[in-house]
This record gives sequence, structure tokens and C-alpha cells, in this order.
Amino acid sequence: MDLADFIDQNRAEILQAWDAYARTVLPATDGFTAVQLRDDADALLAAIAVDMRTSQSAAEQKAKSEGKRPYSAARARTNPAHSHAGDRLHQGFDLDQMISEYRALRASVIRLWTSRMGEADRGALDQLTRFNEAIDEALADSVERYTAEVDRARELLLGALGHDLRNPLGAVLLSATYLLRDEALDAAARGAAQRIVSSARRMSRLVDDLLDFTRTRLGQPLPLAVEPMSLAAVCEEVVREVETTHRGAVVQVLSKEDRQGTWDRGRVAQLLSNLVGNAVEHGAAFGPVSVELSGDAQEARIVVRNSGPPIPESLRARIFQPMVHGSDRVRAASSVGLGLYIARQIVDAHGGDISFESTPAGTSFAVRLPRHRRQQEPS
Ligand SMILES: Nc1ncnc2c1ncn2[C@@H]1O[C@H](COP(=O)(O)OP(=O)(O)OP(=O)(O)O)[C@@H](O)[C@H]1O
Ligand SMILES: [Mg+2]
Repeated sequence: MDLADFIDQNRAEILQAWDAYARTVLPATDGFTAVQLRDDADALLAAIAVDMRTSQSAAEQKAKSEGKRPYSAARARTNPAHSHAGDRLHQGFDLDQMISEYRALRASVIRLWTSRMGEADRGALDQLTRFNEAIDEALADSVERYTAEVDRARELLLGALGHDLRNPLGAVLLSATYLLRDEALDAAARGAAQRIVSSARRMSRLVDDLLDFTRTRLGQPLPLAVEPMSLAAVCEEVVREVETTHRGAVVQVLSKEDRQGTWDRGRVAQLLSNLVGNAVEHGAAFGPVSVELSGDAQEARIVVRNSGPPIPESLRARIFQPMVHGSDRVRAASSVGLGLYIARQIVDAHGGDISFESTPAGTSFAVRLPRHRRQQEPS
């Protein structure tokens, strides 16, 4: 039997090995079903078998081995390797993990194939397998280093960009706020100025998140300027601001009982803004959103609730990681996937914790903040 037929006839077994390997590559695959992990692998194997049966000239073979096959838009559209890459990106695999999956796929095909061969053929193939493994290992090491360098350069660029955007954005916000003070402004102009203010506020929040992301990814701690403050007052402010930026949103503050503590006011506002913003943006459209403040002498507790479909299993384990967001394409267009990452950094810096619960009845994010931060252990 030739290898292409062998692949076709043993697809189920090969896919099982692929699935088992994918689970070891990414610890956060707990929430994924076998279907999600095998996704396009079946189509991929079928395409490989077809490709192996297609006759090719020596020149074509050489071009393919050097990765120089001419680009074809039609092939790109139907190429299972392309859709597989898209799925893996969405599921949170990084480049090294995706490449090692292909290595595992090749290894399991070769293992199965050689196990059914005669002794003489097997000796030659064993050597070829060892050669393949050595090349694969070198490839994986290079990819790891390469992506680390690219990531670092990108993060530095984002940091510089975010930093440079701050001043012009501040000027936009200040000027629009100044215009709003003009009593003679007609309704249309006032509406326009108001929209400038709320959009600029949204942009500054994104820029702040971006800067914090680059700062923490580059290994710097999140700086805190703690002072005695009132949680209820900040909460009220943030809620009103989110209502202004999201037309039609109504957010209920369930407990107005004041909660005092020693925290970084700006950071707590950023944390609340990310959580309340998420509840409004990702919860059911115009559904109820509430913020509840409670606590005791040691800590304050904040719970933000919204209705709407539960957070998908595949997102749960990674939800606090950067650049992770849901698959809602319309909303994903404006979503960076940094809000919860930053929220967690802020909570951690204050010595608290953040968790969530999501069921068909609704989603809630709960934060606990010690009223007075314990002295940080010297690292
Ligand atoms: N309250 C919520 N209800 C339902 N889904 C949520 C909620 N909060 C977060 N999610 C899901 O978690 C994902 C990650 O949230 P996160 O705040 O980190 O990023 P984002 O809101 O998509 O983008 P950004 O906050 O950077 O603008 C969201 O895209 C959404 O799918
Ligand atoms: Mg968000």
C-alpha cells in the first residue's frame, strides 16, 4: 500500500494521536472538545493524501521543499491549513505550539507506517526519522527565539505609540470639554462636542490599557499611588461615564453604602471601567447590568453582573490572558482583549483577587480588595 492510501485508511487513528498531542501542547485545552481540537485536521490529512497522489516535476518538488509554491487565491480560500491556523490562533495556541502540532502529526504518521513495515525498510526509515526530528528540533528553537524577538519589538512599538497618543488625546478631550462650557452652543453642536468627549475618553482608556500591557509584559510592575478613598464615589463616577459612552445602557449601583480603603484611585476606576464596560458590551443588548459593593473591616467586595449567553468554555481558562476575546465578530472588531488582563493586574497589585461565574442565567465578575494593602514582599 502506498503512504497516501495508508493515510486515508488510518485517518481516525492518526487524528486520535493528533488530538492527544494537542492536549499536551496547550494546558488550557481542558475546555475544548475533541471536535474543536481536531477541527480541520481531517481535511488537512485528506488534502495531503491528494497532494501526494498528484504527479509533480522535479522542479515543482524542489520549489515546494523551498516553500516557493506560487500563491493561488483559490487555494488559499479552500486551504484547510489556512483555516486551521485561524482556528488555532482563536483558541490561543502560539506559533511554536501550532508548529509542534505539525511535527507530532508527521511523527505519528511515520510511527504508524513504519510499524507495519519489514525489518530492512525500517532501518533506512529510522535514520530518516532521526534526521527529521533533528531538523524539527532546530526549527522549533529558531521559531521560539524569533517570535520572542518579534513580540518584544511589537510591544516596544505599542508602548511608544500609546505614549505618544496620550498628549494629543488629552488636548482633544480638554478642548471638547472647554467647548461644552459655552452656554451659547446650540443643541447639535453640543451633541457633537459630547460625542467627541466620550469617544476621546474611550480612546484614552484603550491607550491606558495598551501602555499597562506593554509595561507588564516588559517585566515592570504596575505602579500604584495609594491613598484613602471612597469606592462608592469612584463607582458612581465610572458608572455614569460608561452610561454616557454606551448609548441606552443603564447600570444599577445596588449598594451605595460607602466603602473606604487605601487604594490607587485611578487604577480602581480603570478596573471598574473595564468590568462595567464589559458587562455592557458583552452582555445582552440593553440587558440589566448592576454593580454591587459590599465588604467588611478587612476587604471590599465588588460584583458586576450582566445577563446574556454564558462565556464559552473555550474562553474560560484564558479569559484573563492578554489579547483574548470572544468570537462575536461584530463586537470583536472593536475589542482588543486587554480589559480583563489589565483588571487582573490591578487587582493583583492591590493584593486582591478576581473571579467570575457564567451560566445561562448571567455572568458576574467578583473582585476582593484588601482595604489596606499589605506591604509587598521584597522580590
Ligand atoms: N461580562 C461579560 N459577559 C460576557 N462575556 C464577557 C464579559 N466580560 C468579558 N467577556 C468575554 O471575555 C472576552 C475578554 O474580555 P476583555 O475585557 O479582556 O477584552 P475585550 O472586552 O474583548 O476587549 P477590550 O476590553 O480590550 O476592549 C470578551 O471579548 C468577551 O468575549
Ligand atoms: Mg473589555
